[in-house]
Amino acid sequence: MSDFDFESFITDIPDYPEPGVVFKDITPLFADANAMRQTVLAIADHFRDAGITKVVGPEARGFMIGVPVAMELGAGFIPARKPGKLPRETYFVSYELEYGSDTLEIHRDAIESGDRILIVDDLIATGGTAAATGKLIQEVGGELVGYACILELTFLNPRDVLATSGDQELFSLVKVG
Ligand code: PRP
Ligand code: MG
Repeated sequence: MSDFDFESFITDIPDYPEPGVVFKDITPLFADANAMRQTVLAIADHFRDAGITKVVGPEARGFMIGVPVAMELGAGFIPARKPGKLPRETYFVSYELEYGSDTLEIHRDAIESGDRILIVDDLIATGGTAAATGKLIQEVGGELVGYACILELTFLNPRDVLATSGDQELFSLVKVG
C-alpha cells in the first residue's frame, strides 16, 4: 500500500451541494500530476496480479480514474453511462438514490465471456452506484473481481450494500469515517 498522502489533495467543501453536506472535492488530486499518477498506480498495483481484463467506470467521475487504471493494468475500459448516451443496444440497471432513482447502461457486447471485471469510481458513499454496476456486470456474465475507489465514506456503510451483490473486495485509498 502506498504511503502517499492522498487525503491532503482532497478538499472539504461545506454545505455543497446543499446545507449540511460536506462535499469531497477530488479535483486537486487530479490537477497535481504526481498525485494523480500516485493515485492511479496505487489502485492498479493492488489489482496488478488479479488478471483484470476490463475496467468498468460509472459516468462521469468513474471515467477520470477508470481509464488510466485500465491502461496501467493493460485492460480495456467500459463506460457505464447515464441513460440515452450509448448508440447501440444496451443492458441497463436502475437503482435508488436518497431522493429518486438513477440508471446506468453498458453496451450489450461490451463484456465477453471470461472477462474479469474491476469496477473503479472516484467515490463510494452509500455504495448504491457501485453495487448497481456490479449487479449489471454479473447479469451480463462478467466475472466481477472487485471494486476500487479513491475515497470511501465508511460512515455510510457502503460495504453492507456491496455485500448484496457478492463477496467481492472493495479497495479504497482513503477512508472517511
Ligand atoms: C458520485 C460519485 C460516485 C457516486 C457515489 O457520482 O462519483 O459515482 O456518486 O455515491 P453512492 O456510493 O452513494 O452511489 P454522481 O452520481 O454524483 O455523478 P458524477 O460522477 O457524474 O459526478
Ligand atoms: Mg459518479
